[in-house]
Amino acid sequence: MSKATQSEAETGVTLEIDGREVQARDGQTILEAAREAGIDIPTLCEHANLSNVGACRMCLVEVDGERNETACTTAVQDGMDISVDTDELWNHRRTMLEMMFADQNHYCMYCEMEGDCELEDMFNRAGLDSSRVPLEYPDIEPDTSNEYVTMDLDRCIGCGRCIRTCDEIVGNGTLNFGNRGRETTIVADDDVPLGESSCISCGSCVQACPTGALYSPLSAYKGRERDCEVETTTCSECSVGCELEVFTNSGRIVKIEGNEDGPAGGQLCEMGRFELLADGRERITEPRVDGETVDLADAIDRARTALTEANGVNAFASDRLPRETLEALSETLSEYDASVEIPGAERAALESDVLAALEAELDVETADLLVDSLHDIEDSDTLVVYDTGIVETHPVVASYVRRAANGETTLVTIDDGTDRLERFADHSIELDAPTATVTEQVTDVFEAGTEALADAAIEDVVDVSLELSGDATFVLGPDVDDAETMVDVFGLAATSDNDVLSLGPGRNRAVADVPTDDLEADAEVAYLLAADDRGEDLDRQIELARGAETVIVQATRESALTEIADIVLPALDWFEREGTTVDADDDQRAVERVLDPRGEIDSDREIIAELQEVAA
Ligand code: SF4
Ligand code: SF4
Ligand code: SF4
Ligand code: FES
Repeated sequence: MSKATQSEAETGVTLEIDGREVQARDGQTILEAAREAGIDIPTLCEHANLSNVGACRMCLVEVDGERNETACTTAVQDGMDISVDTDELWNHRRTMLEMMFADQNHYCMYCEMEGDCELEDMFNRAGLDSSRVPLEYPDIEPDTSNEYVTMDLDRCIGCGRCIRTCDEIVGNGTLNFGNRGRETTIVADDDVPLGESSCISCGSCVQACPTGALYSPLSAYKGRERDCEVETTTCSECSVGCELEVFTNSGRIVKIEGNEDGPAGGQLCEMGRFELLADGRERITEPRVDGETVDLADAIDRARTALTEANGVNAFASDRLPRETLEALSETLSEYDASVEIPGAERAALESDVLAALEAELDVETADLLVDSLHDIEDSDTLVVYDTGIVETHPVVASYVRRAANGETTLVTIDDGTDRLERFADHSIELDAPTATVTEQVTDVFEAGTEALADAAIEDVVDVSLELSGDATFVLGPDVDDAETMVDVFGLAATSDNDVLSLGPGRNRAVADVPTDDLEADAEVAYLLAADDRGEDLDRQIELARGAETVIVQATRESALTEIADIVLPALDWFEREGTTVDADDDQRAVERVLDPRGEIDSDREIIAELQEVAA
């Protein structure tokens, strides 16, 4: 077969676009074929990760000299003759653009997206500098009810990218079109303020919006995207390990976005996209002893002495930190015979024990019991989620679950509190008995086979078992902390040839390799490597500090913990750290420095290494 004939067989369809021969595949749209051939067709409502709806008509092309079609929704056909760049088509586009501008209040110079807006770009590209259509000035009040996402529908062009993002990527389905005709607008749920809706503040719609209709007040007017540098790092807020694209301008962070080319399609959650930016606590850059600023060497000296002379040392380390920092800390603390607590370490250790026991008992490889990738859950026929707390602790995984449930997958949820995935579940089982009891029942019925199901006592359990056919994935949430449940679930996965995704409360799964132990009840010194911890993690450290005579805190920002510390040492912020982290599917990911450290230390490990030298 000649090269030309072979390539034709692989591609299937030959067409002409603006006089150029283009090879395409059956089922591709004209837009996809053009892009692959490097031919630009203007678009606005289209987005590579979303379905195509043909709403804006920017991509209008002339087909065979006789009809106009939207390239994003029209499939290629062999022999098609396409024109993209004709005067007539640009006249159509200009008319559409003028109507979009006239419909709402697009005062670009006051818009936070000015300079980055796709509508503005298209207006310029079409050679427009004003609109012939009378402006309507609808004066829609911005919806500021959500702390992180503002809806300013005065800038909306009705492209629907936000609706499709919330539905197809986030799986949440909060947004929709509301009202009719010229009054048509974007609404949340049944037209309630966004802050009172089912919105989970993931901000994915903000990233997808081509105009300034959706924006975050955290980033507004901080700088244009085109003037920013972009660094990529890994989010340390949970073990999903999403890739963050951090936009910086003049040494400050403007915004955080998800990688649209990555498997999550640009999705992040509230923690990764917004909470990292919203931490307004005062930064610690200088060491303090008893409330007075001192030299770093003096502070380290005092800390060393306290650690050496203590009758018992309890330590706590943030699991937001990279593996290398946790390992260095572990080495240092062993010099002082300290007991160490790291969030998530206990669950990780329990899981390792259970897996080792099952490996010996059932002759299975641990690796065969764990999902290869978080994305496997979307390919499952059945998903069983034990503990729907993942909605709060691992929000992007919860999105994969919702997406799967919105599709063909049967979702079974088991929870002993509020079922946070109930509206997506085919079967929602509320536990009023201990988790292990129901797990055993599920296991028994499932192992007994389908013939025994008619005799099963609990209807819901029967349903679960009936659905456990084909590929199933078990998701273990953060609150599952007993060996019995773990043995049952991993055992069930092993005997049914299925996989488990274990989402413990920890963030960096490298903690499984860092030795930890129970803290001493009466240790005199507490050494707390808080870094930028907040919330429950900080509360736990305050509790430990209150039980100690001398408190050493290494922290990024001021808090109730640093207020009660005797010795305060500075720590890096999340965007200054370097190292690696291990995510929920056991992949090692790079934590990259985004901005140079502000204080006098270049790494948390510098201080930890200094402390390793035990006081004489
Ligand atoms: S922030 Fe997330 S959940 Fe809320 S409307 Fe936008 S995409 Fe949907
Ligand atoms: S809010 Fe933005 S993404 Fe949503 S329809 Fe309007 S312009 Fe499009
Ligand atoms: S899901 Fe986890 S890793 Fe992803 S953005 Fe949210 S907190 Fe960060
Ligand atoms: S990009 Fe094709 S109609 Fe909007």
